[in-house]
Amino acid sequence: MTLLEEETRHSLMIEGNIVSKQELRKIIGEGVASRHSAQEVLAYFEAAVSAYELAFQQYKENDFQLTKPFVRQVHALMFRGVDHFAYEPGAWRNGPIKIAQARVEAPPHHKVEKLIESLVKTANQSAANPIRKAAVFHSIFEQIHPFPDGNGRVGRILLNYILIAHGLPNIAIKGLETEKNEYFSALESSDAYVSEVLRGVKRWTRAQNKPFVGLENLICKNLAISLDTVICTRFVDSGSVLQPLDEVAKHIKMSYQSLRTACSQKKVISMKIGGRLLTHPVLLKKPTT
Ligand SMILES: Nc1ncnc2c1ncn2[C@@H]1O[C@H](COP(=O)(O)OP(=O)(O)OP(=O)(O)O)[C@@H](O)[C@H]1O
Ligand SMILES: [Mg+2]
Repeated sequence: MTLLEEETRHSLMIEGNIVSKQELRKIIGEGVASRHSAQEVLAYFEAAVSAYELAFQQYKENDFQLTKPFVRQVHALMFRGVDHFAYEPGAWRNGPIKIAQARVEAPPHHKVEKLIESLVKTANQSAANPIRKAAVFHSIFEQIHPFPDGNGRVGRILLNYILIAHGLPNIAIKGLETEKNEYFSALESSDAYVSEVLRGVKRWTRAQNKPFVGLENLICKNLAISLDTVICTRFVDSGSVLQPLDEVAKHIKMSYQSLRTACSQKKVISMKIGGRLLTHPVLLKKPTT
């Protein structure tokens, strides 16, 4: 799967929309979807493609910029062609909202527009490193919960937008149970701080590392996975064949288990294809040391 397909599958999984890799490829390949859940998959993918093209353009021009209309546009694209969407695509919520599984309360709807305005302005002016910027932006965006639905998905696209606009690859925050819980607790650990930011008690540019460190670490972990995929794909594109881990282990006279551990410790560059980890002897960085 490409990075973008992987991201789409997991972002939808976090939201509870589970599609197999085969199904996802078919939906994206055909570019049409009849079922509601498939329409959401296609719309997410297309919204991400369009947002990341712009982000990459900004990276090339060294001109990172998020705007309020752009945030609304991502939401509109996210629901383009999605039947039965009960709201106006791209429109802010017009009433209170509960953030699923969170204890913190989202601010009242009449504050949404101003809060988003201030969030994008601060993001544009911030000199924070891109991982910090993406983590803080995402945490604040999620607590504002500006739309009646789709806040998780739009927020994850905007997180990746920030990474790409700063020259990094997009990440797929995993929707599998353990990783999803890790993501939710990372957001929860910044809830109290973000509440104060939203009430105007604190400014996020002065944020200490602590409230956001969980989400920053999660971004870093997933960036390492994305970079492995970028490297492996480039390797395959230039004509080399990746090999299953057990074969490589035999080749270098190492136990399969040790090599697997080395992969998870990021001492070896590898990529999962068809449920199997693949690598190549050339990609090994002395896993035993
Ligand atoms: N403690 C928390 N604080 C802030 N945001 C959180 C917290 N826990 C989860 N979230 C965010 O809220 C999202 C889920 O909330 P909810 O289901 O209300 O969103 P939504 O508007 O339906 O978005 P989507 O339809 O994309 O899931 C998660 O995907 C996550 O991004
Ligand atoms: Mg939802």
